[in-house]
Amino acid sequence: MMKRRLFTTAALAATALASAAPALAQDNTFKIGLILPMTGQQATTGRQIEAAVRLYMAQNGDSVAGKKIQLIVKDDTSLPDTTRRLAQELVVNDKVNVLAGFGITPSALATAPIATQSKTPMVVMAAATSSITQASPYIVRTSFTLPQVSVALADWAPKNGIKTVVTLVSDYGPGIDAEKYFKDRLTFNGGQVTDALRVPLRNPDFAPFLQKVRDNKPDALFVFVPSGAGAAVMKQFLERGLDKAGIRLIATGDVTDDDQLNDMGDGALGVVTSHHYSAAHPSALNKRFVEAFSKANKGLRPNFMAVGGYDGMRVIYEALKTSKGQSGDALLEAMKGQLFESPRGKIFIDAQTRDIVQSVYLRKVEKKDGQLYNVEFDVIKDVKDPGKNK
Ligand code: PHB
Repeated sequence: MMKRRLFTTAALAATALASAAPALAQDNTFKIGLILPMTGQQATTGRQIEAAVRLYMAQNGDSVAGKKIQLIVKDDTSLPDTTRRLAQELVVNDKVNVLAGFGITPSALATAPIATQSKTPMVVMAAATSSITQASPYIVRTSFTLPQVSVALADWAPKNGIKTVVTLVSDYGPGIDAEKYFKDRLTFNGGQVTDALRVPLRNPDFAPFLQKVRDNKPDALFVFVPSGAGAAVMKQFLERGLDKAGIRLIATGDVTDDDQLNDMGDGALGVVTSHHYSAAHPSALNKRFVEAFSKANKGLRPNFMAVGGYDGMRVIYEALKTSKGQSGDALLEAMKGQLFESPRGKIFIDAQTRDIVQSVYLRKVEKKDGQLYNVEFDVIKDVKDPGKNK
């Protein structure tokens, strides 16, 4: 009985989703359903992306190809069941033309079947597990992937006196990607991962893990934790005296997140990370972006989440122009292959994988005008997601 009822509900939902799309065509509004974590552990991601999306709209207007752009923001609190329910409501009731946002991987994966069934393009602006773009042919990504950024650091480390490394990652999709791709490349380069530690995503306590690292005495600790958790890692790394024990901290740029970096204190100086965006990226376009973002948001510094949201909006706006206001498959096709200059540098949406190709930078935390920044000192250009070569 229970089983049948579940099946009936699922079948009804699928019918509603499949019939949602055609109704869109006549309407003169173009709706973007932006689902983000606005509260809870990932709230900074929601705050950054919403601010960037609103900045893009303020700068580029709310009328594109004869359509009035309407933004509908929903808070999923990072719970994938909530993300899925909100996405379903946005597609069936609000008849949105695009789903966007997705602060963490489980939220993006939970929504992928809804995008497929309703033929709604889904722009992933934050989540960064490699496999996400393979979960639906309607997904386009404007953030990054963990394999893309981790490999660069595994090339840098052995050339800079780091041979033994302990890895410490959040125990879910992006962390497991970071651990695997970092380790494979470091080993290939003659280095060694001497221990691989995984911490829970929710309410992590880093202390016991860092104690293990101290005992292990590697040349360096490599860390991935999602945006918002970096400051806690940095604090406990210093409190436990790992730096004094001669262990270097290296990480993906999620750890020295521009949203938190300036409050981490001088203990963060010298930390080397690899990532696709720094607020200190020295281009004229980025300077204008950082200034405008900061001005519109009481001095807030944009982080890599913000740039994913900003570029995601550009992908949507330009696609809508190319499709001459059409949605569904025509809109999706026009998102593929876009190439443009972003505040992070030149980016490209690979038409085949729908994933982002971009430069990855090596950066070091330095003080500039009394503030801490990720200062870029090397670049690997046009990096495709290594996860797609498999
Ligand atoms: C993810 O869940 O995919 C994710 C979240 C935050 C990050 C990176 C990846 O900083």
